[in-house]
Amino acid sequence: ERTYEAVEQILRKYNYKKENLVKILLEVQKLHRYLSKDVIHYVAVALQLPPAKVYGVATFYAQFSLKPKGEYTILVCDGTACHMEGSTSLIKAIEEEIGIKPGEVTKDLKFSVDCVGCLGACALAPAMVINGEVYGNLTAEKVKEILRSLRG
Ligand code: FES
Repeated sequence: ERTYEAVEQILRKYNYKKENLVKILLEVQKLHRYLSKDVIHYVAVALQLPPAKVYGVATFYAQFSLKPKGEYTILVCDGTACHMEGSTSLIKAIEEEIGIKPGEVTKDLKFSVDCVGCLGACALAPAMVINGEVYGNLTAEKVKEILRSLRG
């Protein structure tokens, strides 16, 4: 299957070495923006590690996601500055516009949303990041406009 071909390529690149587990998982995650149970199992077998161990590593590091993520991953800052400037209203606006709450992903896998701590853009509070791009000085209305334009 196509998925595993791509996973195999990554495994090969790292010589099927257990020591490279984190690097391997990071690259594998890029394929689908998350690590499925099946893919974790596949990597475990290939590296001759117990699946529980690989699963443990995947849950330990914050950069891994075991749940599907959207094509657009929205990170709403809920750090102090953003919270004071109304991040809660942004979260509400997202739910109104695309029907998902933090930790969820839309059915078409187009969007996912998560709350994160300070993004280091407090001067732009309230802020969010979509696929690495920072959007600041947001209002509920601006958030909805951004989502509409991304949805196309
Ligand atoms: Fe949101 Fe710092 S608190 S960017």
